[in-house]
Amino acid sequence: MINHSSGYYYSTIAQNKWGIAAFLTFLVLIIIWGVHGIGFIYLILLFLFYNLGMLSLSIWEKNKRTETLKEIFNKIKNNEYENSGEIVLPSYLSGIQSEIRSMYEKIQSDMDYMNKLEKVRSEFLGNVSHELRTPIFTIQGYIETLINGAIDDKNVNKQFLEKASRHTNNLNNLLNDLIDISMMEAGQMRLSFCYFNAEEYFSSVVNEFIPQAEKKSLRLYLHKVPSKLQLFGDKEKIKQVMTNLIQNAIRYTETGGVEIKVEEEERSGKITVSDTGIGIAPEYLDRIFERFFRVNKARSKEAGDSGLGLAIVKHILDAHGTKIEVQSKLNEGTSFSFRLKK
Ligand SMILES: Nc1ncnc2c1ncn2[C@@H]1O[C@H](COP(=O)(O)OP(=O)(O)O)[C@@H](O)[C@H]1O
Ligand SMILES: [Mg+2]
Repeated sequence: MINHSSGYYYSTIAQNKWGIAAFLTFLVLIIIWGVHGIGFIYLILLFLFYNLGMLSLSIWEKNKRTETLKEIFNKIKNNEYENSGEIVLPSYLSGIQSEIRSMYEKIQSDMDYMNKLEKVRSEFLGNVSHELRTPIFTIQGYIETLINGAIDDKNVNKQFLEKASRHTNNLNNLLNDLIDISMMEAGQMRLSFCYFNAEEYFSSVVNEFIPQAEKKSLRLYLHKVPSKLQLFGDKEKIKQVMTNLIQNAIRYTETGGVEIKVEEEERSGKITVSDTGIGIAPEYLDRIFERFFRVNKARSKEAGDSGLGLAIVKHILDAHGTKIEVQSKLNEGTSFSFRLKK
């Protein structure tokens, strides 16, 4: 519908049933004039009055439509509908009922999504503050104890300083993980993909963890990697994935060891990190990839873990177009695996 006053009448005539009726009446009048020969001036006057009547009817109908729509939009704005099925338009507007209903559904789903995001955001902030508080309070505690006299006590002063320093490291790790995850979630992860030789790459990555495994008397074993296998990915980010998986495996294993396997498949290489550790109960298997989720909070925190490791792993593998799989048996062990294109 055109809004300008001059165009309005003509557009009404063109688009509206009243306009068509007026035109038909005009034709009928012409015919009557031809047959009966009534005065031309009367004919024109009749035509004008008739059209004025039609025009006001048309305006009245337009206003009625506008009012109905206004009422419906206000109800949507004030959340007065429970679902889109409650939006019922009168017959003269039934043509746009499904559009209005689907618009309502879209608004509702956008709002639900935004509310969910907001909830996730505030939960995340709450978690972050909670996680930061622990190491900060601990460091503060040691420093205050030292200031209050422990600094001169040779039995504890070095020990307290070392503990404070360890918690500073934990704090630093947590901040680095937080920076990583917020970059990834903001879609700012830059990846530089290349082909690399799997045998060389995985031997060097796994070797770095031998001292850590030896400290716990665990066996760390890399199965023979197919020597010509070339895999495609971001080497640094995949190293971050392997570091998280191997560190977890060592952390949550007391006897036995950790094995890493790289197998060639038709279009990919499958990497598996498995351990003979404490395992994960089935009800937690989906949750371990959530930010800050830990099966045993005290144990993981004591070890200085951020609880963000597997969330970061999942993001990195998502960005590689692949996913992480986990299998675990309580008290028997866990195995994580993922694929990379070859
Ligand atoms: N290899 C594993 N064996 C047993 N539990 C594991 C293993 N890897 C991860 N988990 C569980 O998943 C949780 C989340 O892991 P992660 O995101 O790396 O956090 P963090 O290691 O910092 O606690 C851990 O707290 C632990 O409970
Ligand atoms: Mg971890």
